[in-house]
Amino acid sequence: MNRLMISPLAVLSATLIAALPAAAQGSGKIKVGLMLPATGTFAALGTAIENGFKLYVAEQGGKLGGREIEYFKVDDESDPAKATDNVNKLVKRDNVDVLVGTVHSGVAMAMARVAKETGTLLIVPNAGADAITGAMCAKNIFRTSFSNWQPGYAMGVVAAQKNYKRAMTITWNYAAGNEMVKGFNEGFEKGGGKVMKDLTLPFPNVEFQALLTEIAAQKPDVVFAFFAGGGAVKFVKDYDAAGLRKTIPLVGTGFLTDGTLEAQGASAQGLITTLHYADNLETPRNEAFRKAYALTYKANADVYAVQGYDAAQLLGAGITLVRGDISRRDDIVLAMRKTIINSPRGKLAMSTAHNPVQDFYIREAKGKNNESVGIAVKALADPARGCKN
Ligand code: PHB
Repeated sequence: MNRLMISPLAVLSATLIAALPAAAQGSGKIKVGLMLPATGTFAALGTAIENGFKLYVAEQGGKLGGREIEYFKVDDESDPAKATDNVNKLVKRDNVDVLVGTVHSGVAMAMARVAKETGTLLIVPNAGADAITGAMCAKNIFRTSFSNWQPGYAMGVVAAQKNYKRAMTITWNYAAGNEMVKGFNEGFEKGGGKVMKDLTLPFPNVEFQALLTEIAAQKPDVVFAFFAGGGAVKFVKDYDAAGLRKTIPLVGTGFLTDGTLEAQGASAQGLITTLHYADNLETPRNEAFRKAYALTYKANADVYAVQGYDAAQLLGAGITLVRGDISRRDDIVLAMRKTIINSPRGKLAMSTAHNPVQDFYIREAKGKNNESVGIAVKALADPARGCKN
């Protein structure tokens, strides 16, 4: 059954929709399927996303658009081989109204395929696979995080501005790593830099030694890296232990140091990264969010928590407009497309491809925080190559 056929109504403006006669208030619980990693190198990222999502819902009294939320959960293990079976558990067995997930780009691609086939509403709270809001974009698929291209491109621009000329890159060989490197290379080479070599290892391997030896031998001006979660902790420590930090600056997308600073200790201090969030943004919205998160979970909020929180805000905007009537799918989608989310990261608008248009911060790791030290690129939109939304 296609639950989300888009009628011509969907082209009406949000204002017009709001003026439509009030639909009957929906009843019963809204079923939200959380497909996130609870084990493996991205486990902590999954927890932060779930915490963020649930925090926003709890702040609304456990309801969105007047309807109670019921959660269904699957641990996706960041394993693309199990992804289609896992997402079908939520869609076919549990019959969820909305899918929320996941962290890993390869797993999220499988979620997007099932969402497209079944018409189930999908909100991606992390995975950056470019195709999800590119060639595979769809009316019923939204993302509250980033496309892989975005933070990579921002770091490329910054590295060129810092006057580095010769770079090497290092990452896991899968969509997220390859696409962030591609974005970095585009921004860096546009600014006059040259990428000497791209190094990779399979996900989620953490045997970095041979590649670090190669970097030491080649002596680039700068190294760009994407790793995250447990892998980022080990990479940053190994880079430092190999003595490379003293001679070859390390930069990366912000995932290299987000949610990981305590475990990385001194090895991460001073690292420069780019991301759509920084811990120290001095806005009432960010400060209130961080305070509530710390009180509820006894942990510091990070970018993953923000993305989960905003996934709930986005869904809330859709369901509120239809006063809880989840059957009005076209109207929900249109409201989600048009809303401006008041995110802890700053105002967040959706592109026509349903990917955030957002500022990218230059951050420096200081103590337990990734602090903003400037803006890399303002209002950066993904090029959404191949999207026909
Ligand atoms: C991804 O696979 O898209 C991914 C995973 C972890 C991150 C960022 C992106 O921190």
